[in-house]
Amino acid sequence: TLPDPSLCVTATDFEKVAKDVLSEKSWVYVSSSAASGLSMKANIDDWSLINFRPRILRSVDKMDTRKSILGSTSQFPFFVSAMGTLGSSHPGAEPLLVRGATRKGLNTMISTASTKTLEEIMDAHIDEQRLLKNQSPSKLSFQLYVPVDRSKAKSLIQRVKKAGFQSLWVTVDTSTLGKRTADRYLQAQENLAGPKETVLKAGTGEVNSENSYAPAFGGRQVPGSVDAGLTWEDLDWISKEWNGPLVLKGIQSVEDVKMAVELGVQGILLSNHGGRQIHSAPSSLMTLLEIRTYYPEAFDKLEVFVDGGLRDGADVLKALCLGATAVGVGRPYYYALAAYGAEGVERCTDILAEEVEITMKMLGVSSLDQLRPEMINTSRLENE
Ligand code: FNR
Repeated sequence: TLPDPSLCVTATDFEKVAKDVLSEKSWVYVSSSAASGLSMKANIDDWSLINFRPRILRSVDKMDTRKSILGSTSQFPFFVSAMGTLGSSHPGAEPLLVRGATRKGLNTMISTASTKTLEEIMDAHIDEQRLLKNQSPSKLSFQLYVPVDRSKAKSLIQRVKKAGFQSLWVTVDTSTLGKRTADRYLQAQENLAGPKETVLKAGTGEVNSENSYAPAFGGRQVPGSVDAGLTWEDLDWISKEWNGPLVLKGIQSVEDVKMAVELGVQGILLSNHGGRQIHSAPSSLMTLLEIRTYYPEAFDKLEVFVDGGLRDGADVLKALCLGATAVGVGRPYYYALAAYGAEGVERCTDILAEEVEITMKMLGVSSLDQLRPEMINTSRLENE
């Protein structure tokens, strides 16, 4: 039997519960990272190297944690980042994640590499909205891996549009799949052991092929799934085809931020894919700081999002002080879904939301637009 969900009091507590629930294959898939895990660890560690300069005796009895994201009001300054094959986390997969998130008013980014079709996932969101009498401000966005076949890419974008996703987030850090060490070890063991029947403790891990031409579960790539030939020129037709809020997911350099601004996209997500792609990637915080130093104008020209290693409401606020519009959270939601289904997703959201609010109060701000870079001391990172 699982521990009662109330025993999870931080967003990281779901991990140990999930480890007991998940099959080895699913555990390896979610917890693995490129090479030695350097960048995954740096994502987490770097947030703890900066700290607040709290202010006291400011009226904080009325709190507002809402944030405008790409033209819509979000209940929270964080959202669930895209994760593939959530059927490997829980049999309820993406629709169950979405139900939990919608109940809490939380925005969710749906991966191209989902186990259910994008229409089924949207249906769960709409159904939950109906049950809540349309009181939930929650929105779904779609993360796009661009299929090599352009006609498939275009029809996928049209389906996303027709289904009613709010924004399109094109992943640009996946010209190939990163070398995920833990996946390789497991694969090598399985190859040596020969064919055997795999019993998945937590549902199927197959990518829905109707949805996507995207990387398969377990880090093996389906030929023709992700376009290694993708360039900035492709963003032109993607942008025309989509004709709505567009965000580039996986920007890691100041130069590329400049190019994104030139292109005129609405947003960028600074991300190293949770440390799963290039080995020795900068942590998401390092990228954010570089942009502050070398191209601060960016924050006035587009919305800057960040993901990677954010595990506490305080981390969320640190990113916002430094200019982020909102942040994405990945693995904690995979683990929460694996452990407790929709209830876990709700609980994880409550935990982060409460931490955001108590940290705001002790920082001396009552709304998120009062957050400023001066409220953060980054000297420990800069002196290194
Ligand atoms: C991911 N990520 C990801 N990104 C993407 O663009 N498309 C995808 O299908 C996936 N799939 C995926 C699966 C799993 C199991 C993980 C852990 C991550 C990356 C994800 O969107 C996000 O960038 C990171 O997860 C953020 O880091 P944290 O919060 O997990 O540290």
